Amino acid sequence: MTQQMRVFAFDFSGPAHLSAGLWRHRDDRGPQYTSIRYWVDYARMLEQACFDGIFFADNVGYHDVYRGSVADALKDAAQIPANDPAYAIPAMAAATTHLGFGVTSSTAYDQPYATARKFTTLDHLTDGRVGWNVVTSYSDSAAKNLGTGTQLAHDDRYGRAEEFIDVALKLWEGSWEDGAVRVDAESSTYVDPERVHEINHSGEHFDVPGIFLCEPSPQRTPVIFQAGGSSRGVAVAARTAEAVFMNATSKAGLKKQVDNLRQQAAEAGRDPEHLAILQMITVISAPTDREAQQKYEEYLKLVAYDGAMARYSGWAGLDMDTFDPDVPLKHVNTNAGQTMVDIFSKMDPTKEWTPRDIAEYIGLGGTAPVIVGGPETVADELQSWMDETGIDGFNVVHAVKYQDIKDFTEHVVPELQHRGLMRTRYEGRTLRENLFGQGQSRLPQDHPGAAYSHRAAVGTA
Ligand SMILES: Cc1cc2nc3c(=O)[nH]c(=O)nc-3n(C[C@H](O)[C@H](O)[C@H](O)COP(=O)(O)O)c2cc1C
Repeated sequence: MTQQMRVFAFDFSGPAHLSAGLWRHRDDRGPQYTSIRYWVDYARMLEQACFDGIFFADNVGYHDVYRGSVADALKDAAQIPANDPAYAIPAMAAATTHLGFGVTSSTAYDQPYATARKFTTLDHLTDGRVGWNVVTSYSDSAAKNLGTGTQLAHDDRYGRAEEFIDVALKLWEGSWEDGAVRVDAESSTYVDPERVHEINHSGEHFDVPGIFLCEPSPQRTPVIFQAGGSSRGVAVAARTAEAVFMNATSKAGLKKQVDNLRQQAAEAGRDPEHLAILQMITVISAPTDREAQQKYEEYLKLVAYDGAMARYSGWAGLDMDTFDPDVPLKHVNTNAGQTMVDIFSKMDPTKEWTPRDIAEYIGLGGTAPVIVGGPETVADELQSWMDETGIDGFNVVHAVKYQDIKDFTEHVVPELQHRGLMRTRYEGRTLRENLFGQGQSRLPQDHPGAAYSHRAAVGTA
């Protein structure tokens, strides 16, 4: 029997995310991204539908690879303008009690000390409902504007990421013992200094000798998400990610990725079932198949080729304007996102992709496969992705901002719930509990971060 699926809404704190040109649709609510009321309304809708959470992508650079210019990205709002997603979260959290919040934050330019503090603050203010999507960044424009000038090489970025995560885990799990915060007026002790420890980290990229600034939050460590499917990306995920975000174009390709990741997690000494794997999926739904198909055809007419190519060129680090639009893409190594090249050049040996095919495909929902249909058709298809690949759920992508997710909550969620495939009430309190089961607000013992914990030593396990 299919297990209950985990469902997140994938979004971006800007007017347009993965779909190119769709912001021109009459129902699109992209321009409202600057309003806190928009995000609060959105959060309430997702919680009512029992979504696990909202998952924010983010990019600290912009797409200026296509034609060597940012012009096409600006014209199509291709992930620019882009606000920092973290700031809307406390307001969304105040309007909800169970919804989780996945926030993308890069390890390429920030310091782990500051990032760890940002996530602990969010975890406090959401009562333990935050996840960190660890990304390593891929845009030269980010490097130019954030002080390093050039990017580290692809694999070195992952080396930095590994150490970055390690420092953050030491701060979250190893600095403050449970019980360190006493708030004891009698002994005039707010924090017991004996129970706060320096982490003494000295490594290749970071030296962090001291104690953490924040007291422990409900989850201590936010749920760690990872996205990035190159061999180095998978190795990092296998060791440290609790939820992994994939973007395969076919079920066969996805199954290979899932099996590989779970095997590597087992080799790293972890229970492979302690990783929740989420596939990106675009869903265009309506009360009937026919209406959904009509909507899809209307959407297709709005896809903007240059906006799609501006996105893809940025993700892949290849100027698609220099490629023949009708010659299939061959495998090449890139210093940007290797996954973005591989999915169209080698993941599915039965299919060749020309730049024109890629633009048409990613124009609607980015690299996420598209499901079009009424409630039963969509539920059947989602169920078969779960059964045939071993994933745990989905990150649902919209083509038309807000509206497609609203349609999903109205048409698809009731059918999934009717089949027992989606929850009808939240089981837990924190994001980790809702993903992995009640009583599991903290990192599991087989996660490397648990080794830094003082819980066992002080008898408060
Ligand atoms: C499904 C998926 C989603 C991603 N989302 C983001 C994102 O929101 N922000 C970002 O900077 N990078 C994102 N990335 C990029 C990766 O985290 C990574 O930096 C990049 O893909 C290079 O790693 P790779 O070669 O392992 O794919 C994403 C990658 C994938 C595969």
